[in-house]
Amino acid sequence: MTRTPIRWGIVATGGIAEKFCEACAFEAARTGKSALYAVASRSLEKAEAFASPRGIPHAYGSYDELFADPSVDAVYIATPHNLHAELSIQALRAGKAVLCEKPVSIKAKDFYPVIDTARAEGRFFMEAMWMKFNPAVNKALSWVKEGKIGTLKFIRCDFFLNKTYDPASRLFDPVLGGGALLDVGIYPVTAATIFAGKKKPDHLESYLERDASGVDRYNRMQFKYDSGLTAELSSAITLHGIGEMRQLVLIGETGAIVLPLFWMAEEARLLSGDGEMLETFSAPFDCNGYEYEIREVERCMAQGLTESPVQTWDDSIMVMEILDAVRRI
Ligand SMILES: NC(=O)c1ccc[n+]([C@@H]2O[C@H](COP(=O)([O-])OP(=O)(O)OC[C@H]3O[C@@H](n4cnc5c(N)ncnc54)[C@H](OP(=O)(O)O)[C@@H]3O)[C@@H](O)[C@H]2O)c1
Repeated sequence: MTRTPIRWGIVATGGIAEKFCEACAFEAARTGKSALYAVASRSLEKAEAFASPRGIPHAYGSYDELFADPSVDAVYIATPHNLHAELSIQALRAGKAVLCEKPVSIKAKDFYPVIDTARAEGRFFMEAMWMKFNPAVNKALSWVKEGKIGTLKFIRCDFFLNKTYDPASRLFDPVLGGGALLDVGIYPVTAATIFAGKKKPDHLESYLERDASGVDRYNRMQFKYDSGLTAELSSAITLHGIGEMRQLVLIGETGAIVLPLFWMAEEARLLSGDGEMLETFSAPFDCNGYEYEIREVERCMAQGLTESPVQTWDDSIMVMEILDAVRRI
């Protein structure tokens, strides 16, 4: 039986952990189905400094201590990518439900044992692919399914960040899984799988520009599906993130859909074949956008599910296998 509220343990104290806690506190106040119960850091001082202003009652100086706390129902793993799979397995074995940041591993082969463990332990596991629960993305998907743009022929999706090189940042550190593809390229790849109907491309070409350490700073991908659908995708961590390079465009035979800032979209636009705006769907976040994945975990756990029907284990594995293919590993 899942307890209410779900008592969350937060693993790591970085940027995304802050955002997640903001959404979790929002949901705790809104419905009481979740509660921020504990946070763990590699340093007790950091854990306490994170816990105190957020009113999180328990702070631990190691991730192990948080996993060992029987009062923690679910953990949110927010470390750099290289630790995701190992910590997920540890948490599942300790009897916790797991919401793990993307990507769950650096390579697909390290992902499979996570799913094997979730299955063996009978525990909930989900990759925190928050875009899957975004109302504007889901509106675009229903427009496509309703035939509002005719047969979908072309997907264009780019996610450019413009960061200054910093060897201390996880983004530029190969050991921590740095690079554009795993950090932001995962979003255009996920967008392609969503709109291609959860299918892998039948043909794939890619180009990655790597720095001396092997980290990719820029990449381009071309996907082709036997249905005739094609996709052009790219991502970068050191190139200008102007509007055009941060949107999703879906071109159908009779119309188009545009999602500005698609991975955190608060608006979807439906256009006719000649560019006339037919409909604008506006969906400002209730909090910061992470509340939707928290609601999904609450819903699944309340129903005793071990996997989300929206962000399935196979969905995550498919994207990871595509990311392997893009890097030819
Ligand atoms: N869903 C989203 O929108 C979204 C957005 C941003 C990031 N993410 C994902 O979330 C993860 C964390 O990203 P972030 O931006 O929060 O990173 P970050 O600010 O660098 O924080 C990462 C945290 O991980 C812990 N950590 C453990 N081992 C570490 C190591 N060797 N080096 C550095 N930090 C280490 C640290 O916390 P302690 O010192 O407290 O242990 C650190 O604060 C990434 O996998 C990323 O893909 C997702």
